[in-house]
Amino acid sequence: MSQKLVVGNWKLNGSLVANETLLRAIVPVDGVEVAVCVPFPYLAQVAAWSRGKTGGKTGGGIALGAQTVSEHGAGAYTGEVGAAMLADFGCRYVIVGHSERRSLFGEDDALVGRKAAAALAAGLTPIVCTGESLGERDGGQAMAVIGRQLGAVLDVMGGEGFRGAVIAYEPVWAIGSGRAASVAEVEEVHGCIRAWCDAQGVAGQGMRILYGGSVKAGNARALFALPGVDGGLVGGASLVAADFMAICRAASGGD
Ligand code: PGA
Repeated sequence: MSQKLVVGNWKLNGSLVANETLLRAIVPVDGVEVAVCVPFPYLAQVAAWSRGKTGGKTGGGIALGAQTVSEHGAGAYTGEVGAAMLADFGCRYVIVGHSERRSLFGEDDALVGRKAAAALAAGLTPIVCTGESLGERDGGQAMAVIGRQLGAVLDVMGGEGFRGAVIAYEPVWAIGSGRAASVAEVEEVHGCIRAWCDAQGVAGQGMRILYGGSVKAGNARALFALPGVDGGLVGGASLVAADFMAICRAASGGD
């Protein structure tokens, strides 16, 4: 695939002051699309920064995303945030089905599918997370789990919609653990995901598939060198400007 995509997932971190410091250090990298998925209250701050409208300081070049979205468009859903609202704030991306949403907030496969569809309908690109637990991997179930999770999304979105999504392979055991999947493991699963897409009638080669789970400055280059890896979804390291920029440069093939 052509341009790599590196997405920072800030999770529940940040403040106006801390974000500004971080944003100042995030500069465009040739040949790489850089995005940050931020907590809802900070969408306006990052959108303004990205438009380069923060008091004349340059920023810009950073795509904006959110970390979840409601399946509902509007109405009596206290606490929810709709996809059209995210689009209103200039979001391009929204993460759906992150393993933390699944395990801590009870989001099931079908709900993830409805969220992805709601995002796409509002003109956003859903980043659909998928990945197996350690037990599932050890039990030889990794691809069955991934097929089940992605299948639920495909069911709701249909092939045409699914093609517009980004897939993020994030093995649960690699997230926040400091133990990224090995290059061989990532290569194998990304290949299996593309083959799975082919089998569903959605050309796997055309899908953008990111890897996530303990991506660091030290392992990014090897992971991104894999032809089947179209970029990364980066949690902890996206909060440290120097690390995040090193990861972005690794995606460009630079130092
Ligand atoms: P990590 O998180 O990079 O801190 O492992 C990745 C993620 O949760 O998307």
